[in-house]
Amino acid sequence: MTDIRYLEDLKSFKIDVAHISYVMGIVDKEGFLGHAYFGKHIADDDVSYLMRVFEPPFTPERNERDRLSFYDCFPFEYPTHGIGDFRESAVRIETGSGNYANSLTFKSHRIYDGKEGIQGLPATWGNAADTKTLEITLEDREAGIEAILYYSVFEGIDAVVRHTKIVNKSGKTVYLTKAASASLDMDNRDFDKITLFGSWARERHINRTAVNYGIQGMCSRRGEPGHQEHAFTCLMEKNAGQNNGEVYGIDLVYSGNFRTLTERSQFDQVRLMTGIDPEDFRWELKDGASFETPEAVLVFSAEGLGGMSRTFHDLYREHLIRGYYRDKKRPILINNWEATYFDFNAEKLVNIADCASKLGIEMLVLDDGWFGNRFDDNRALGDWYVNEKKLEGGLKKLAEEVNRRGMKLGLWFEPEMISPDSDLYRAHPDWAVHVQGRRPGLARNQMVLDFTREDVTDYVYSLIKKVLESANIEYVKWDMNRPLSDIGSACLPAERMGEFHHRYVMGVYKLQERLVTDFPKLLLENCSGGGARFDAGMLYYGPQIWCSDDTDAVERLEIQEGTALIYPLSAMGAHVSDCPNHAVGRTTPFETRGHVALSGTFGYELDVTRISEEDRKLIPHQVELYHRFNDLVRTGDYYRIASFSENHAFDCWESVAKDGSEALVTCVNVRKTANVKSRRIKLFGLQENASYRLLNEDGSDFVQTMSEEGKTLYFHGSTLMNAGINIPDTWGDFRSRLIHVKQA
Ligand code: GLA
Repeated sequence: MTDIRYLEDLKSFKIDVAHISYVMGIVDKEGFLGHAYFGKHIADDDVSYLMRVFEPPFTPERNERDRLSFYDCFPFEYPTHGIGDFRESAVRIETGSGNYANSLTFKSHRIYDGKEGIQGLPATWGNAADTKTLEITLEDREAGIEAILYYSVFEGIDAVVRHTKIVNKSGKTVYLTKAASASLDMDNRDFDKITLFGSWARERHINRTAVNYGIQGMCSRRGEPGHQEHAFTCLMEKNAGQNNGEVYGIDLVYSGNFRTLTERSQFDQVRLMTGIDPEDFRWELKDGASFETPEAVLVFSAEGLGGMSRTFHDLYREHLIRGYYRDKKRPILINNWEATYFDFNAEKLVNIADCASKLGIEMLVLDDGWFGNRFDDNRALGDWYVNEKKLEGGLKKLAEEVNRRGMKLGLWFEPEMISPDSDLYRAHPDWAVHVQGRRPGLARNQMVLDFTREDVTDYVYSLIKKVLESANIEYVKWDMNRPLSDIGSACLPAERMGEFHHRYVMGVYKLQERLVTDFPKLLLENCSGGGARFDAGMLYYGPQIWCSDDTDAVERLEIQEGTALIYPLSAMGAHVSDCPNHAVGRTTPFETRGHVALSGTFGYELDVTRISEEDRKLIPHQVELYHRFNDLVRTGDYYRIASFSENHAFDCWESVAKDGSEALVTCVNVRKTANVKSRRIKLFGLQENASYRLLNEDGSDFVQTMSEEGKTLYFHGSTLMNAGINIPDTWGDFRSRLIHVKQA
């Protein structure tokens, strides 16, 4: 049941959806909006006591003398700066008179079916039948500012999505120097927190620590989320784990500078907040203008981290990802990057396609190096016209050759970039992001195009469009290979330069929107030096994102575990590559690389004409596994069973059909533990009383004892989930296996 109510007599708002409740109250005289409760569903409406308004000595209406003490502990739903709440504020506005002490109090509200989009930004979506929205308008009467808080909920999903609109009605120009998407005040319950950290080729590793006193957080100032930090944070009870305990997850639907922080106060309250990073943010709001923040997603789970992940997955699959491929199996691709790097020509590519098509691979993706004078990574970004010296006959001919072999053709672009050695830079040096008079710092020998400028994005798009119309190209990999620095735009006036970062991201979004509108059947895969822009914002435009430049099966275990904490497996770009692995030099079995990649979008990143005959022969079988299991992986519920990052020995996870009729269990023995014969694992999500058969990937029965050999065995769901099964700890490292659990 989805219900949003304003309880007039209690002056409170109550949101109930699926298994959760979210309650806010208005403090009687002052009109402050406070947060009372977010968590497992509660039956009572009147829980305003949770806000502690009438606990002595702070209540301002009774004790004006200690007003600041009240502010400093009141659970503000959207805390402001400068009036006496000395914790982190959500919003800071420099008014026309130069003040920045803002006080927001309740003005009005609206409740309606459905949900509106956010101007220029990606956001979750829903229709009138399955989505409800609450708008609460707060106002600073003295300053002439309004803050509209938006809350939407979706039938059956334990999440609340929020964002905020700041409206200037002051008659003067004001400056917004901070505008969080959402803030959530709670009592600390001995919380731990999980954040994701990383580096290039090592993205989204899980980091669990205690919530300490003071401010802790993650942020990016790179113009994109980056490899290093992630906008996601979860707070969990100390004893909470994969399958138990209460967990709060927050994520941001945004692809630029963000800050997600946790602050534990003197009164053991915890404030969790997310939004655009304020460091480089300053937005001019003329009279009558408004600013909308990106959207924050708040998930509650009473079933541990696993419950939180499954809610994020459902929400993102059903209410964020769009387009032709949203619910479809994606073509198995082979990408030529690790196969050839820049050293290719049409013949080499056609040979790869020829060989790949015979093995069942469905799409050739031509990566970096097909355009302009791009013989290495030092030049030509921006010159988006085909290099016919490399590709005789151009893309049209290549597409025809590839199509003739029954495959699709995909193409790599890096639209946001410009090389100093490019025709584009020679013609338009002012199109690069730069500080007037100073040459910007290079990264990978490239600069960034000023995507705040419409003339720039229009031009880039016109070239991309022309290329895509010139041949049958059915997939685009949109890459972005350096962070932003030396921020300056030739077109933004000085007083608005603080708008650069957000405007840049909106420029990217606008172009991607044009791309998917003009080419509705195009499969768009986002990428940023691997997984530096793996975020919910990008998922609104393309259903999958390249997870990491690291395709090593072992490193991928941690990357994919961290990524799957939030994002559905259907979104995780994962390929089988050659060994020794190009990022870490490790050699793992071809089977293991396949098993790990099968839990993502699946594809290859190698020269199929040059790998060993032995490995090549395994490809048709892997292709068959993909077709057999992808529906399950793409649409099922994900359960983490064991984590190599915790046990340092083995990894195990499961995808289960929503109706519990079948499951795929993947186990990777990373490090053989001496003298251990097998490990007990318990399965999840099955039907207690149904009977299941356990199968190896070749269709034979998975047997656990010698006496079982040759027999067909059936187990009840209750046995598999409560008693579990034994997985042999194989001889040697990096061995993996799949177990198909199938209802009899
Ligand atoms: C980035 C991507 C790679 C590849 C190269 C090409 O690093 O993550 O997959 O496309 O760029 O330059």
